[in-house]
Amino acid sequence: MNDPRSRLIVALDVPDRAAALAAVDRLAGHVGYFKIGLELFTAEGPRLVEEVRGRGQRLFLDLKLHDIPNTVRGAVRSACRLGVDMLTLHASGGAPMLAAACEEARNHDSPPLLLAVTALTSLSAADVASVGVGGPVEGWVETLAALAHGAGIRGLVASSRELPMLRARFGPEMRLVIPGIRPAGAAAGDQARTATPGEAIRAGASFIVVGRPILKSADPAQAADDIVAEMAAGMAPE
Ligand code: C5P
Repeated sequence: MNDPRSRLIVALDVPDRAAALAAVDRLAGHVGYFKIGLELFTAEGPRLVEEVRGRGQRLFLDLKLHDIPNTVRGAVRSACRLGVDMLTLHASGGAPMLAAACEEARNHDSPPLLLAVTALTSLSAADVASVGVGGPVEGWVETLAALAHGAGIRGLVASSRELPMLRARFGPEMRLVIPGIRPAGAAAGDQARTATPGEAIRAGASFIVVGRPILKSADPAQAADDIVAEMAAGMAPE
């Protein structure tokens, strides 16, 4: 955990296998994990997961599962068989769904770290209110995180704004994975609750997730190295 590079997850938000493997080949050795999400998995399926793993890379399958417990249990079983290192599900799926996922993962050797997504980092306070949640975003994140923790989950996805609260409440054992990362000067795009790599690491992030600031850069490997340098600066004693 002390090597900042191993804590950098790059989101392979690209349309197809060719673009994904080109990015993997360019970025291998510069980042810790490759994240395959909805766009790429829908296009290329589990074979691409196997190909990226076959290149010796650690893999985060970001499917944000949210369904009835039996269906999620089956999806977790399939992901365990694929040998992924991290897998997401929505905390708002509820305690029985989260507990079923944890129970299924325990049936496998080297199961993925299950990560419960709290509030998407793209949601602003107004967006959260518009889906019917009263009160501040942080309170909602805390509620969802406590629900997930109670169901046996030991990893959370949240924004850097909730990091100090989550770290204080759940201690060092909880893995906190933070998207919505923007190096100083980078475009926010559709992200609302953002932080720089250094800020996120200083506030207690276990891992950060970065997509467009790396993939859309003219030199993705250099962009990743610059982010790792910012992370390292965030880890230095004050
Ligand atoms: O391009 P960008 O750095 O915004 O990509 C962030 C990645 O993290 C995307 O793949 C997105 O799906 C993912 N993510 C997120 N917010 C969450 C969970 C995952 O942005 N709460």
